[in-house]
Amino acid sequence: MAESFGSDVDRYDRSRPRYPDALVERIVAGSPGPDVVAVGCGTGIEARQFQTAGCRVLGVEPDARMADFARRSGVAVEVATFEAWDPDGRTFDAVVAGQAWHWVDPVAGAAKAAQVLRPGGRLAVFWNAFQTPPDVGEAFAAVYRRVMPDSPIHQRAMPGPDGYAVLCATAADGVRQAGAFGAPEQWRFDWEQPYTRDEWLDQLPTFGLHTRLPPDRLQEVLAGIGAAIDAVGGGFTMRYTTLAVTAARTATPDPAPRTATADIDEARRRCSARGMESPDVSAPWCSPSPDGAIGVVHRQSALSAAARRDPRRRGLHDAGGHVEHVAGDPHAGHAGEAARVRAS
Ligand SMILES: C[S@@+](CC[C@H](N)C(=O)[O-])C[C@H]1O[C@@H](n2cnc3c(N)ncnc32)[C@H](O)[C@@H]1O
Repeated sequence: MAESFGSDVDRYDRSRPRYPDALVERIVAGSPGPDVVAVGCGTGIEARQFQTAGCRVLGVEPDARMADFARRSGVAVEVATFEAWDPDGRTFDAVVAGQAWHWVDPVAGAAKAAQVLRPGGRLAVFWNAFQTPPDVGEAFAAVYRRVMPDSPIHQRAMPGPDGYAVLCATAADGVRQAGAFGAPEQWRFDWEQPYTRDEWLDQLPTFGLHTRLPPDRLQEVLAGIGAAIDAVGGGFTMRYTTLAVTAARTATPDPAPRTATADIDEARRRCSARGMESPDVSAPWCSPSPDGAIGVVHRQSALSAAARRDPRRRGLHDAGGHVEHVAGDPHAGHAGEAARVRAS
């Protein structure tokens, strides 16, 4: 689903909200220098804001269509997920992610950020939460209930910043587990943006759920929402809250994580010694269980050195448990990508 954002890059870039200047300034002031990595930079919205603030920005973005747009707008981009990206020994003063960290494995992502950040460097991941005025929000929710009755997200008016509490807590937990940062802080910026009917209808198709709607259903949503905005005078003011989770890299380097290749080779060796089905080695990461009975393949999530030290995970592996069903484990059910490899 993450790749759905690239289906209309021009619309995405012109219609999506920017981030508050106060956030950008605070991150820049709280970083030891101007070199910034923008994780999941998309079309380059926040990357350009950091450039304007005097930073040198490198985007890391897995969607080639988004990356191309960002490059055309003057942002250097490398096409990769953050977890799989090869920093090739380069280091940076800040790692930022606008509206993207929920696509990144929270522990592996924080560990990768720690790997590339200079001492004192800042990790800052942030989201724009929006809250429609109550009357407009109810009218929008009624349209979604009618046109998309099965969608759980739009059964009620937009949740606003409270709906982001879990994302922020997960990000902060990942930072703590990575073990290379000071205590994570949460910053909050409240702001407003007026929208005309056409401006809101321009942005709507860029939202995750809408990118997957069949064209006729999307048209129905747009017609219903357009009518709801007309009914309140042709425009409304959206309340935004930008929430950031941020932490500074400690001065002491973390022990080097084991490489993915070493993990995969080890799991292959153990599997083959026991006549087990071999792990899918196209998976970027694979971890053998200590007793060798089961290999756990993480198709997308990197199992960082810090995660490996997590006693809950260790215990799971010891017991040969299902990683994907453990409440509170940040890897649990991550995109449903963990799979067990059993003896055949
Ligand atoms: C909602 S868009 C945000 C784009 C941009 N940062 C912004 O604020 O407009 C999320 C972006 O994260 C990217 N993404 C998804 N998974 C990622 C990963 N594992 N590592 C880095 N970026 C990822 C998507 O391709 C997409 O461009």
